[in-house]
Amino acid sequence: MAQWREAVREESFSRTTTFRHRRKSIAIFRLEDGLFAIDNVCSHEYSELSEGMVVGGDVYCPKHGSRFDIRTGAVKDYPATRPVKTYEVKVEDGVVYVKV
Ligand code: FES
Repeated sequence: MAQWREAVREESFSRTTTFRHRRKSIAIFRLEDGLFAIDNVCSHEYSELSEGMVVGGDVYCPKHGSRFDIRTGAVKDYPATRPVKTYEVKVEDGVVYVKV
């Protein structure tokens, strides 16, 4: 069952950061309407989405350019065809928590 895990201090990053839980790497993005967390690893091949370019609410995979919706994890451009997992995020007392 998923539980809230302390990830990072909110003031420790501006646009993007990562958080590891067990073997999973999760990317946390700051968008205009809040913080969002998705799997950091692209669903196509191995590449870290936290290294990708963010445009609006989308992130472009730095390896082959697939585009993912950061809020929903949906894939919007090939070559990836599968979405990436999303995670709930909350901030309490300046600490970012991710439900994993
Ligand atoms: S590894 Fe991300 S699009 Fe290929």
